[in-house]
Amino acid sequence: MACPQQSDELVFFVNGRKVIERQADPEELLLYYLRKKLRLSGTKYGCGVGGCGACTVMISTYDPVAKLIHHRPANSCLLPLCSLHGAAVITVEGVGSIKTRIHPIQERLAKCNGSQCGFCTPGMVMSMYALLRNHAEPSMEQIISALDGNLCRCTGYRPIIDSYTSFAREPTCCQLRGTGQCCLDQEERVCSSSTGGQILSGLCNPEQFLPMDPTQEFIFPPELMRMAQEQQRTTLIFHGKRTTWISPPSLKKLLKLKAKYPKAPLVVGNTTVGLKRNHSGAYHPIILHPVRISEMLVVSSTSDGLVIGAACCLAQLRDILMKAVTELPAEKTKTYRALLQHLRTLAGEQIRSMASLGGHIVSRGSSWDLNPILSVGKSVLNLASEDGKRQILLNDRFLAGCEHADINAKEVIVSVLIPYSMKDDFISAFRQAERQKNALSIVNSGMRVLFRPGTDTIVDLSILFGGIGSTTLSARKSCEKLIGRQWNDQMLNEACKLVLEEIVLPPSASGGKVEYRRTLLVSFLFRFYLEVLHGLHQMYPFRYAELSQEKMSALGMLQSGVPQGVQIYQDVDPGQSPQDPVGRPIRHQSGIKHTTGEAVFIDDIRPVDGELSLAVVTSVKAHAKIISIDASEALQVPGVVDVVTARDVPGKNGKDEQAYAEDKVICVGQIICAVVAESLTQAKCGAGKVKIVYKDLDPILTIEDAIKNNSYITEQRKIEKGDIVKGFKSADEIIEGELHMGGQEHFYMETNSVLVIPRVEDKEMDVYVSTQHATDVQELVASALNLQSSKVMCHVKRVGGAFGGKVTKPSLFAVIAAVAANKTGHPVRFVLERNMDMLITGGRHPFFGKYKVGFMNDGRIIAADFQCYINGGCTKDESELVIEYVVLKVDNAYNIPNLRVRGHACKTHLPSNTAFRGFGFPQAGLLMETCIVAVVTQTGLPHEKVRETNMYKGVNLTSFKEKFDAENLWKCWEECLDKSDYYSRKAMVEEFNTKNYWKKKGIAIIPMKFSVGFNATYFHQAGALVHIYIDGSVLITHGGIELGQGIHTKMLQIASRELKIPLSYIHFCETSTTTVPNGKYTAGSVGTEINARAVQNACQILWKRLEPIQRDNPDGKWEDWISEAHKQSINLSATGYFKGYHTNMNWDTQKGHAFPYFLFGVACSEVEIDCLTGAHKNIRTDIVMDACFSINPAIDIGQIEGAFIQGVGLYTLEDIYFSPKGEQLTLGPDTYKIPAVCDVPEQFCVYLLPNSRNSIAIYSSKGMGEAGLFLGSSVFFAIRDAVAATRKERGLSLDFTLNSPLTVERIRMACGDVFTEMIPKDKPGTYKPWAIDIA
Ligand SMILES: Cc1cc2nc3c(=O)[nH]c(=O)nc-3n(C[C@H](O)[C@H](O)[C@H](O)COP(=O)(O)OP(=O)(O)OC[C@H]3O[C@@H](n4cnc5c(N)ncnc54)[C@H](O)[C@@H]3O)c2cc1C
Ligand code: FES
Ligand code: FES
Repeated sequence: MACPQQSDELVFFVNGRKVIERQADPEELLLYYLRKKLRLSGTKYGCGVGGCGACTVMISTYDPVAKLIHHRPANSCLLPLCSLHGAAVITVEGVGSIKTRIHPIQERLAKCNGSQCGFCTPGMVMSMYALLRNHAEPSMEQIISALDGNLCRCTGYRPIIDSYTSFAREPTCCQLRGTGQCCLDQEERVCSSSTGGQILSGLCNPEQFLPMDPTQEFIFPPELMRMAQEQQRTTLIFHGKRTTWISPPSLKKLLKLKAKYPKAPLVVGNTTVGLKRNHSGAYHPIILHPVRISEMLVVSSTSDGLVIGAACCLAQLRDILMKAVTELPAEKTKTYRALLQHLRTLAGEQIRSMASLGGHIVSRGSSWDLNPILSVGKSVLNLASEDGKRQILLNDRFLAGCEHADINAKEVIVSVLIPYSMKDDFISAFRQAERQKNALSIVNSGMRVLFRPGTDTIVDLSILFGGIGSTTLSARKSCEKLIGRQWNDQMLNEACKLVLEEIVLPPSASGGKVEYRRTLLVSFLFRFYLEVLHGLHQMYPFRYAELSQEKMSALGMLQSGVPQGVQIYQDVDPGQSPQDPVGRPIRHQSGIKHTTGEAVFIDDIRPVDGELSLAVVTSVKAHAKIISIDASEALQVPGVVDVVTARDVPGKNGKDEQAYAEDKVICVGQIICAVVAESLTQAKCGAGKVKIVYKDLDPILTIEDAIKNNSYITEQRKIEKGDIVKGFKSADEIIEGELHMGGQEHFYMETNSVLVIPRVEDKEMDVYVSTQHATDVQELVASALNLQSSKVMCHVKRVGGAFGGKVTKPSLFAVIAAVAANKTGHPVRFVLERNMDMLITGGRHPFFGKYKVGFMNDGRIIAADFQCYINGGCTKDESELVIEYVVLKVDNAYNIPNLRVRGHACKTHLPSNTAFRGFGFPQAGLLMETCIVAVVTQTGLPHEKVRETNMYKGVNLTSFKEKFDAENLWKCWEECLDKSDYYSRKAMVEEFNTKNYWKKKGIAIIPMKFSVGFNATYFHQAGALVHIYIDGSVLITHGGIELGQGIHTKMLQIASRELKIPLSYIHFCETSTTTVPNGKYTAGSVGTEINARAVQNACQILWKRLEPIQRDNPDGKWEDWISEAHKQSINLSATGYFKGYHTNMNWDTQKGHAFPYFLFGVACSEVEIDCLTGAHKNIRTDIVMDACFSINPAIDIGQIEGAFIQGVGLYTLEDIYFSPKGEQLTLGPDTYKIPAVCDVPEQFCVYLLPNSRNSIAIYSSKGMGEAGLFLGSSVFFAIRDAVAATRKERGLSLDFTLNSPLTVERIRMACGDVFTEMIPKDKPGTYKPWAIDIA
């Protein structure tokens, strides 16, 4: 239904400049407008669904009535352009830039090493900027909460928090027990070491930070203030191609419009409407935008309660309630406190600042947190329509959408009355999510009981649950039956029974976790019961007894505090020249560019002439024949230029994996064809219209299925050491067990991206791509196009995170785009949306391990037999190498005299799994540690004793006969025991556990032997090219790729040392196949050191050439020598080469020098779990790492911390779900939870082992890229320790298996108790589950 009036001009400001959009499209979102139209590419796309914060901007608006300016952070990926009329937008470019002025937020973040790949960084800057515009001196809690909605996959957040701590009102101290040091001792020389440099603490110096200067900020444009005043009575209308946006100035006009367009949504935050459009393409011809209507923004207090306008956002609601709670008597604010509890964890600050109260109530999402509380708090909706005003209760019937209890289509909610609570009221809120913050609830609840005054007789009871049905559900019948009862144990038992009967969750319910969700229903009920008893005692201490200590421990939710970090490392030798940067914590070479948004990623490259966008059509079947592809409708879509299939590939269609599926599909998500169009929207629309007919074939999805069907990718890999049969015979005891471990999504913040530009001459192609392996891209594109490799120029400036996920896959995406570019003759850009990236690409291999272990009663392991299986997916990819590494690395830090390991890579019809940081070791190591825990359980010996008994000692041979010295393993172990104060903390944990029945702590210390590099020399070769220009400036390039790991920064340090010039003389431009050919992939923790050898080689060649000139003129400057060298016709350009470490592995003899060297580390972690919900919090982690001589401690510690947090994600959070048909169900940050700020240990200390050297790698360093990840398993085992303490107390078997990841569900269900026993269990095989276990 079109609206007659002419379209208004949309006027807003961006970074102080006025923007007038005469044809504003209501369907357009700010992110795309900023990036594509205004060319402000600092604001990034990370997910498109409000879940990652990469797109954060600040929106300022002026309220002409209150004469106030409001600043708020917002996710521009969900923000409709038309909502910005009259607003001032600040993007990262407006905060500061290298060209103008760097803002202190940007400067401090860069100086504190708060960016690695830099993709999340502009979003981090903007969240902090918005906070500081509202609170010049925020508290640490406000800072942490401002970052709730921002994800970073690289840094582990610690340095980000550190940098922002400097803005906090009050400095906070870590008060590290036992270490004798404090996080505030930045740069303080805490002690001297026996050799080498002193031991330093902290990586940057806050004294060097620029001061904040608020006068430098953009002021709110006076023109917009005037406009707001003048347009107070004007209806604004923006017509788009399909949708009209109407912003009425008054309630009267809104009601008129609503009467005319009853189906039109009222869009405020667009966080529900926008998402629906994203997920299901929902479209609205008319959208009403009610944010200028004063009645809908009202905040008033009446005798009954607070009245809050429906258009108020949730952050505003939080602030209002916080004020009310401090000002009003506690008995009146019970509902408000319950709401506040959820408002602290609901989404991120951006969403809280966008989403409205009315939108929250009306959209009634199943797991929306506030509705159950508003309902039990007897909130009233003030409705209005042209027919008049009325009030309805926001009760369970409204939430269920019952006809007579709902608003009608012509009505709007004007405001909401949230009543004061009463003296005899008890109101509680509960929620449990997969992550503490910024995660939708799995189950939530609002509960209220009203007693007859002065008694515990129930007069009124309401219990509502979210996350169970399609909307919030009420246990109304159960509550009715309990009226009149006393509040005692019998009532609780009956309440649990009634609720479980009334709130039914079928076994195949969407979202899975059925038994867990059922358990939460009664666990919450129990907690409510105790909270009320506790409350009754506080009100009537003489009538009602206080809770026992055991019951008290059930109260309260676990909440992480503000994380504090300590970083300890050894300074360079005092004799080292101050100009020589090697060994010093030099900040990332692109750090400032990351923070200002000026660092260019693939999708930030400006469009080229004639460029087309590409969208792919992927298989919806796991295994099927392709009968036909009909692209005729797609070709009719305006703007669509062509549809590309396997038939258009002139050469080879991929290598091991087909780029375009040919006659068969072998997984859901396999690319079948590509649609190229003038815009991405058109390409996606075209892709949606391609029709594919399949003939189903039987799929194999799980490891179990693959074993049954003998479906393997490669031959079995096997290592046998000693005499396994004899070993088992001589053991005192033998036990067997299993471990299942899920996979992991890379979730690099920059999705796969490629831009292919055909050149005019000689069929040359420029390929700009986000990859770890430029040579592979070059080779595959060349072979697909039947070209020689010399015609394909592959360029990589930087990659926005990779973690192994961009080793093999980008080549396929490059082929897809290159074939399209070749066919159409146009440049083609192919940037995957997050859900497509997660759908198409595989991740870490899911793992199934079986162990049989024979040991003596003193804990000595005599024999172990391991069978390891990985789910490789549908093609070989890196699976052969991964299973080899599983077999080679499974011993971890333990010397088992008789050992047999067999490894199998299973072939299934799932997306092909690939390389991932740690490459098989995180799975293998977890199996070994699980085996150790089994021995501990059986012998009853302390964990650390069994580990010590079995750890390698002195000079040793690995299972494949490679020699190594375990001295540093022991040094790390002892240092970690000491630094973490392990023994006294273990005693404290035990003491805590005896006093707390429903909360338990756990502690674990885990050693690690990590083998660095690859088992073939060929993988370690590297090349470099160094030019010295006549002005003395130096350009270096090499085959390694910047993935955020700081490779180029280290290369500059190396060149600086070798050429003896300051860093400022040296520049790195890009990695390109045209400058350094045949580079290997940047992976395996050795990318930096092997390329460093090549750079060193080139620099040494150049220095040798320059030496005679320098000798002749020792007092001259660098520039003089270069000028002289040029005059003498000395070649000022050199290539450098490193042939590679000598490694090999012979699988026939089971012997080899498989890895260049080993790296040791130890981590000790302490956690607390909530036995009723399965939640846990990371209290403290101490890591000691044998980094040897660190070329750059800031970068190396950053790698350790980032990898560790990624490991915490792997082992405790990140769960991938597949449907029984093989469809991946977790396709974005909304369903797949990587660690967020709330997951960082409250105390997080990293120590680099001093006085340690590695003769193999450059400057005696070691590669730090991957090893820290496995140390995340210390959190897994600390949780296991806490679960074991729980089970011991409840008399349950201690011989239990915990699979990975240890999610809230697994933790809760392992803490068996009366509530887990109460819930109905479904017999496997009698129903179709929502998801299957593929490991
Ligand atoms: C990334 C993300 C994370 C989230 N996390 C959480 C979470 O942890 N917990 C949680 O509870 N929720 C969460 N949410 C959901 C969020 O609370 C809701 O999406 C939000 O409250 C909806 O408000 P809105 O203003 O954006 O609604 P909109 O999308 O603008 O509108 C939603 C609907 O409400 C209707 N509507 C709006 N106002 C009125 C009115 N005054 N009268 C009549 N109808 C009206 C509209 O017509 C529309 O149908 C999350 C959402 C996102 C995107
Ligand atoms: S891109 Fe907007 S939140 Fe992820
Ligand atoms: S630096 Fe945060 S995602 Fe890479």
